[in-house]
Amino acid sequence: MPVSRLDVDLYESEDPIWNPALLTIPIAGIRKMVNMAASMDDVIHLSIGQPDLPCPKHIVDATVEALQAGQTGYTMDAGLPELLESLAAYYSERYQRKLTSENFLITTGATEAIYLALTAVAAPGRHFIIPDPAFMLYAPMIRMNGGEITEISTQAENNHQLDPQEVIDAIQPNTYAIVLNSPSNPTGTVYPKETLEAILQEAAYRGIQVISDEVYDHLIYDGKEYPSALACSCDFDHLMVISSFSKTYSMPGMRVGWVIASQAAIKKLRRYHMFTTTVANTPCQWAGVAALRGGGDFIGHMLGEYTVRRDRLVELVEQTPHLTGYKPEGAFYMFPALPAGVNGTNVALRLLKETGVCTIPGETFGVSCTNAIRLSYSTSVENIERAFERIIPWMSKQDLD
Ligand SMILES: Cc1ncc(COP(=O)(O)O)c(C=O)c1O
Repeated sequence: MPVSRLDVDLYESEDPIWNPALLTIPIAGIRKMVNMAASMDDVIHLSIGQPDLPCPKHIVDATVEALQAGQTGYTMDAGLPELLESLAAYYSERYQRKLTSENFLITTGATEAIYLALTAVAAPGRHFIIPDPAFMLYAPMIRMNGGEITEISTQAENNHQLDPQEVIDAIQPNTYAIVLNSPSNPTGTVYPKETLEAILQEAAYRGIQVISDEVYDHLIYDGKEYPSALACSCDFDHLMVISSFSKTYSMPGMRVGWVIASQAAIKKLRRYHMFTTTVANTPCQWAGVAALRGGGDFIGHMLGEYTVRRDRLVELVEQTPHLTGYKPEGAFYMFPALPAGVNGTNVALRLLKETGVCTIPGETFGVSCTNAIRLSYSTSVENIERAFERIIPWMSKQDLD
């Protein structure tokens, strides 16, 4: 089946019934590729954006037990008190700073948390700074509310590290927030403490919010300590941290995330949350309590698996003509570049049609990286190797330089 014409019609229709703000939501590149792949046989996916390891049994059991115990009603609007307290204790210990349950709001995945944080701040005439490439939700949510964006581009040659000075130089009198995401989707880049400290310090000085999306905070390789924005900022006046259980405990379908912020910010977001999703899924909030109480072994196992896959992917990309890779330090993605000027979308489409390997075109994640593709290693080493048995000979035949 070709890319569905229906998708294009639905999203790009100028039918006056629809709020024109919906036009800021692009047709997701991921959707396009996955739809096309669904119509083909023998596809190998390097396109997956969720963990492929099964959710630990004690977490699944806790969900079932909660359902059987009748936990099917609404929770308090800020979230299940037991989960709020567990999160406060967990973060206070992890980052050695005192947090209380009033610093947390439980949301329907990190997605709702991002939605609340960005749309609560964005308004016409307000300026935002985001990295490019970046997770594809940020820009449309800002633009839907009339906000303007400056993208700070990063490159594969430089491990997609963000230059904090470039971020600081992009601040304007009407800048309201800077969005950070480390480890990053789509690059797997982890920002060092110095980058975060420089940006947070300047943002606090200028009265600008930093919104730090930390959903991959446990997917950090090579024994490194995770530099969270929470460890780099002494107060919460200018910081909102977002995370979820989705990637850490293989729970993306359970839809439980959170915002960590000042008590005043949480009060504002709570009201907004009540008018969007009311509360997060109750039995899955109990699953979250179980995850926090006993998830350490699972995380260790997951890191071992993903490290082997990451290392093999790095070797294979190095052997692939026309691709410039690097060693990602977190998440489960790499975002290698094709030569400058090459259309990554055409390459990804042809790669899928001609070899059956599904990747995600770079343009899904920003404007500066149309010559890139995102590779996910949330799949077995065998699948990664089988994919490159197809990619390497195909790339060798292309004249892309
Ligand atoms: C950077 C980033 N933030 C947020 C999310 C959404 O997470 P959740 O499933 O908790 O809504 C994703 C999911 O892919 C992501 O990659």
